Amino acid sequence: MDSPILSQLFRQLFRHPACQGLRQPPASLGRQTRSFLTRRTPNKRKSQDNGMLWTKRDDYPKNIDKEYWSYPTVTAKDLRNRRERPRQVKMLTREFIDDSLYNPHYGYFSKHATIFSPGEPFDFNHIEDGPAFHRLLGDRYTQFEDQLDAVNPDIARQLWHTPTELFRPYYGETIARYLVSNYKLTLYPYHDLIIYEMGAGNGTMMLNILDFIRDTDYEVYQRTKFKIIEISPALADLQYKNLTETLDAKGHRDHVEIINRSIFDWDTYVHSPCFFLALEVFDNFGHDAVRYDCRSELPQQGGVLIDADGEFHEYFNTQIDPVAARFLRVRQAASRRPFPSPLGSRALRSLRFAPSLRKVHSLPEYIPTRLMQFFDVLNQYFPAHRLVASDFSSLPDAVPGLNAPVVQTRYQRQTVPVTTPFVHQGYFDIFFPTDFNVIEDVYRAVTGKLTQVMTHEDFVHRWAYIEDTETRNGENPLLTWYKNASMLMTV
Ligand SMILES: C[S@@+](CC[C@H](N)C(=O)[O-])C[C@H]1O[C@@H](n2cnc3c(N)ncnc32)[C@H](O)[C@@H]1O
Repeated sequence: MDSPILSQLFRQLFRHPACQGLRQPPASLGRQTRSFLTRRTPNKRKSQDNGMLWTKRDDYPKNIDKEYWSYPTVTAKDLRNRRERPRQVKMLTREFIDDSLYNPHYGYFSKHATIFSPGEPFDFNHIEDGPAFHRLLGDRYTQFEDQLDAVNPDIARQLWHTPTELFRPYYGETIARYLVSNYKLTLYPYHDLIIYEMGAGNGTMMLNILDFIRDTDYEVYQRTKFKIIEISPALADLQYKNLTETLDAKGHRDHVEIINRSIFDWDTYVHSPCFFLALEVFDNFGHDAVRYDCRSELPQQGGVLIDADGEFHEYFNTQIDPVAARFLRVRQAASRRPFPSPLGSRALRSLRFAPSLRKVHSLPEYIPTRLMQFFDVLNQYFPAHRLVASDFSSLPDAVPGLNAPVVQTRYQRQTVPVTTPFVHQGYFDIFFPTDFNVIEDVYRAVTGKLTQVMTHEDFVHRWAYIEDTETRNGENPLLTWYKNASMLMTV
């Protein structure tokens, strides 16, 4: 990385307070297990007419009234063909997040995101216990990064690790057992087994599922089609490479199609019944920020203004755009149980109105507007789908707010978390927890389908051969590592 970019990164990083305790032992490599202390700078606020209110997160807030009215509002789509990060524009929060993660030229997915692969599968039955597995994983992690650095050094590389990779092939086999059982119960022999996977990472889930079906039920295998929908060109290439690298994997070629496209650009009607996998993809979908007036309880929608110097200024507006407004409406209408609010429970709200406790605005709430739009895509183009989705149900050490994201980068192999999503685009992973209670109801309302939500642990208990991932002392990392993950399935 050249030095102007490096200094820009650090300018951005330390303009927004970095969290303390950056060093992470291999034991806490997990996206879901990071722990650090946060130091938060109180927000500065300035209100003005016409419903626009803005927030600058440092000590000398600059007045941006003039810029706010003169700068155009742009979307991530508008910026797709731009090679430079935008200046003198304003964007809704979800658009900024999408641009920061997915811009083909400077987005996080195009540059630094890599999914860890352990190489050989772990032989859990010969590993002493959980801590020994952590140590082994730490060693493999270092080896993996050393090999990448030998070819392409990158001090800002981001590394994910997912259950698909850590527990391969066993996690893939777990999902395959679920798919084949449900296929045989309801669709066989009248329909083929068609599996779509959105966001397939290294393509490991696809290979593990196809291996399992070929080895356990050749008749079903002959009727299986696996289609990947992948936004990242680099990952789509890698999936193809992994599919064709070994003779064993090559055998699956006629069963696989890799479509390099964002699910949000999907335009093909699929009338056949199909399973639709979405494993750890929702967490990077753009969210909108909404905060509430503590007196009127009316929402205000958040965005960011990027000035001529590339500085970020967060603002809130009383006008809610149609996408966020629809989410709020659908959630209100569809929820079968009370959903959390940054205003607190009704009982607390009355307390808050005690003069000493009065605040002007709530903390922001991050609402999954893109996820709702993904359900629209399923409903419109895949009417006979059955969703199998898994993601984090909670995340520690997120930025302030309800359903707020974790925002972090890595510098020289150390994780550096920050306290706002509005940071140098492309260098930060921005990932959200999923409130499964809320999104189950929204999914039902949008698609009209029935669903089941269960914890990752319950799903694994039900469908895995858990002895495969048991260490010698009886611990089972497949059960214990993803305690903060849940699954949503169409039934
Ligand atoms: C955290 S990785 C998970 C990979 C894999 N599912 C696993 O569990 O190992 C997220 C994946 O989703 C893909 N992705 C993110 N947004 C997408 C979109 N809008 N359309 C298609 N793929 C997307 C990413 O490129 C990446 O492959």
